[in-house]
Amino acid sequence: MATIDLAPGDVIADIPAVKHAAIDSMSAYQSLVDEADRDHEAFWARLARDHLTWHRPFSRVLDETNAPFYRWFDDGLLNASYNCLDRNLVNGNADKTAIIFESDDGLVTTVTYRALYHRVCRVANALRNLGVGKGDRVVIYLPMSIEGVVAMQACARIGAPHSVVFGGFSAKALHERMVDVGACAVITADEQVRGGKTLPLKSIVDEALSFGGTDGVRSVIVYRRTGGDVAWNAQRDLWLDEIERAAPDTCEPEWVDAEHPLFILYTSGSTGTPKGVQHSTAGYLLWASLTMRWTFDIKPDDIYWCTADIGWITGHSYICYGPCAVGATQVIFEGVPTYPNAARFWDMIQRHEVSIFYTAPTAIRSLMKCADTEDAVHPCNFDLTSLRLLGTVGEPINPSAWKWFATEVGHNRCPVLDTFWQTETGGHMIAPLPGAAPLVPGSCTLPLPGIAAAIVDESGHDVPSGQSGVLVIKRPWPSMLRTVWRNPERFRKGYFPEELGGKLYLAGDGAIRDARTGYFTITGRVDDVLNVSGHRMGTMEIESALTANPLVAEAAVVGKPDETIGEAIVAFVVLKDVMPKTSADAKAIANELRAWVGREIGPIAKPREIRFGEHMPKTRSGKVVRRLLRSIAKGEAILQDLSTVENPGVLKQFSHPA
Ligand code: WTA
Repeated sequence: MATIDLAPGDVIADIPAVKHAAIDSMSAYQSLVDEADRDHEAFWARLARDHLTWHRPFSRVLDETNAPFYRWFDDGLLNASYNCLDRNLVNGNADKTAIIFESDDGLVTTVTYRALYHRVCRVANALRNLGVGKGDRVVIYLPMSIEGVVAMQACARIGAPHSVVFGGFSAKALHERMVDVGACAVITADEQVRGGKTLPLKSIVDEALSFGGTDGVRSVIVYRRTGGDVAWNAQRDLWLDEIERAAPDTCEPEWVDAEHPLFILYTSGSTGTPKGVQHSTAGYLLWASLTMRWTFDIKPDDIYWCTADIGWITGHSYICYGPCAVGATQVIFEGVPTYPNAARFWDMIQRHEVSIFYTAPTAIRSLMKCADTEDAVHPCNFDLTSLRLLGTVGEPINPSAWKWFATEVGHNRCPVLDTFWQTETGGHMIAPLPGAAPLVPGSCTLPLPGIAAAIVDESGHDVPSGQSGVLVIKRPWPSMLRTVWRNPERFRKGYFPEELGGKLYLAGDGAIRDARTGYFTITGRVDDVLNVSGHRMGTMEIESALTANPLVAEAAVVGKPDETIGEAIVAFVVLKDVMPKTSADAKAIANELRAWVGREIGPIAKPREIRFGEHMPKTRSGKVVRRLLRSIAKGEAILQDLSTVENPGVLKQFSHPA
């Protein structure tokens, strides 16, 4: 398969491939795929030697003896921050701009690789002074900032795995993660500023620590963002700028083995509490940097901008690590796409001359809506000729949003790269290569070289092309998660289920392959994980939050397809007390429960709709009939056979949101 054989009638986008790309043709792609097929280990070993700088080279490539707990390059020694910073000081990038930071209110600060290196060294030294050492976990609860990258890189420099918690999570959610990860220090800010509003991060940290069980947290380091008032505990709290100033500006990196955990990042699963996805140092960094070259075709003059938050995996791989490892210049943005108006992204692309722009389908869909209704915020008012590549991540992108992005933002000159991947995969898995594959709107096209993606049925057998099934990865790859923090069984059972033979990595998404082109289309999660505005939410987490409320007896949460945000959260609730009598009562209780979920998890988890009923519709064996609830949420007529439902009468009560 040296070319993609598209038949007449296939919707292929008429966007020329970029010239001189790292992988510049289908045959170049195919020869890498063949190289990986011929000798998987030799392929990855070559890349790891070429793209990472080792303090001590590895001699072993892949250790499968304890599968699925794979180990890659495990006798090699390296340091991630050395690869991201020191390397740039000796290869001519020292005075190159590493970060162009734009604050919520439009203030721009830049930092060179040399300056970034010294800041990271100072903070690393300061952390060491505070007794943080190799293997100790540091929780980072920071807004989008240069400091966010500095904090993460400083942890990497001393071998202390970081665990970044998204600034939108509540004190409860932060507490849960601090306890699970066993944090010894927290790095936060006085306040966060987004869309003109402030959020008191330091006081949320104080509240989280007041819940107890966090005695291990000896230091709370505070970045002075706004200068707003904060409560102060002199035994524990320190200002980042003060400890930074006092520390030396060079710092010997901690050389760690390739498998040393670089970070633990919590994400939602279909069951239980969020899981701490543990990533390695070498394998992870290899893929974060290599995909910067392969997928984003990063070149020395590019101005790259990824709009994700460092609280999510995209901000780890494609802000903190990938771009620095390849010496890129990147934009980091503190605010939101709609402030001061919905042209903020286009205005920033124009001002900073962004050439590679990576964002979420949700943002595209909502900005597209705004542009439709308000001419002034339409991208056509801005000079976007600096753009050469566009990318999307986090959720399926519908062909109409894809085309709008390609046409109105990219002027049909810039390939749109729909990148499929997950927190667990560390980096892109299935994604178009801008110099090679023809693009098809709505398809993430083909697996990257070395990634053995396939589609199987419930028993793990390949399904024929054109038939849907579940997405699996058949061979280990270096940037895969290593385990679930402190829960190896959950890792094994959840990702390598026995039903599929115990050897296939189960992504949790449904997929289908085009019979002729082999192109993949991701059809969405097949488990109880929702994708709300590109954010992963477990239905069980929201249900547990609801049932923790004293008013609630039972709760079931489902997703309802939404044009803009992908999926909206709909909660079915049975109260302990009688049903609300009036619709005003129902609305008041619904609002109270929504606020409650906001406090338990964070505003992103608040149900859009709450529907009340006297009982939960269940099968005779007591299982909540979720399929039925999904239909009700969508407003569909119930055509299913209800004979197995214990109490079908209750369905009518649930038919309207409060
Ligand atoms: C979904 C984000 C379709 C998918 C990097 C996956 C996508 C989950 C795409 C992971 C895409 C991500 N097309 N669906 N291009 N990218 N997803 O862990 O359901 O926050 O399993 O990682 O997002 O979300 P996570």
